[in-house]
Amino acid sequence: MNIAVVGDVHGHLALMYGVLGRWQKETGRAIDLILQCGDMGAFKDHSQLDQATERWAEDDPDELGFAQFAGSNPPATLIDPRPPLIFIPGNHEDFHFLDERERSAPTDESIYSVSEDGRISALKSGRIWTFESGEEKVRVAGISGVANRRHKKGRPTRYHLSDEDALELAAEGSLSFDILISHDCPDGLEVEDYRGMSGSPSLRFVIEETQPRYAFFAHYDRVEEWRIGATAVFGLGKCSYERSGRWPLTEGGVAIINWDQTQPSVERLEAEWLTNSTRFDWRHWGRAGN
Ligand SMILES: [Fe+2]
Ligand SMILES: [Fe+2]
Repeated sequence: MNIAVVGDVHGHLALMYGVLGRWQKETGRAIDLILQCGDMGAFKDHSQLDQATERWAEDDPDELGFAQFAGSNPPATLIDPRPPLIFIPGNHEDFHFLDERERSAPTDESIYSVSEDGRISALKSGRIWTFESGEEKVRVAGISGVANRRHKKGRPTRYHLSDEDALELAAEGSLSFDILISHDCPDGLEVEDYRGMSGSPSLRFVIEETQPRYAFFAHYDRVEEWRIGATAVFGLGKCSYERSGRWPLTEGGVAIINWDQTQPSVERLEAEWLTNSTRFDWRHWGRAGN
């Protein structure tokens, strides 16, 4: 099966589905599952926007794109019927909405739906979820939030990466799941953002204890690869626009896992049409009906 793994989306779901749809069409390889590493921009009710998102949305209304896909009448996309999209929350989401959705979901399930059509779900932090397609099976775990405690004041609990969630997941033991998705990165990769965040020791502990095949993170916009023991670690860019000049589409925001249990592989989604498109013209190829 093919699994697309996507970095920060910040509401640009229409673009994400367009990019994945075009890739699918051109390669003839179906995407069975989409995993997203947080900063989905999961704001269903726009009165709940955080300050940063509200500010960004003034120049770029696509920041608000989650709501239309979460509602009862989601727009058609190039990848219809849309594969399931499972995300681990980052630091720019409506945390009260996610709390509410998680509380209303059965406790024994590892994911909870956040869209009315059931095609978009969040992964509970620290839990393992199994996806099956035909004969293939993959186990995915996630840790939500960001690790810098200096930004603790006034933030909802879910904003932060929970060390308890990480310990719980680490206790599942070696090879208990295949893919880890997180918004923040494991400590020790020499990655830093503008506020001095530089990863989480407990996330690193999870990887060392469980040794998944792959780990993916977003947030830092670092398109790079590392190894921690047997685990290949991938940094993802954004699936969005560069906010300057011609507003070109960002690159490095999508990786594709060819999930074959004996010999899986990962490639970055790279294409000339991605490099050459901007915020103003991608809909020529990226919309349903094209
Ligand atoms: Fe972000
Ligand atoms: Fe972030």
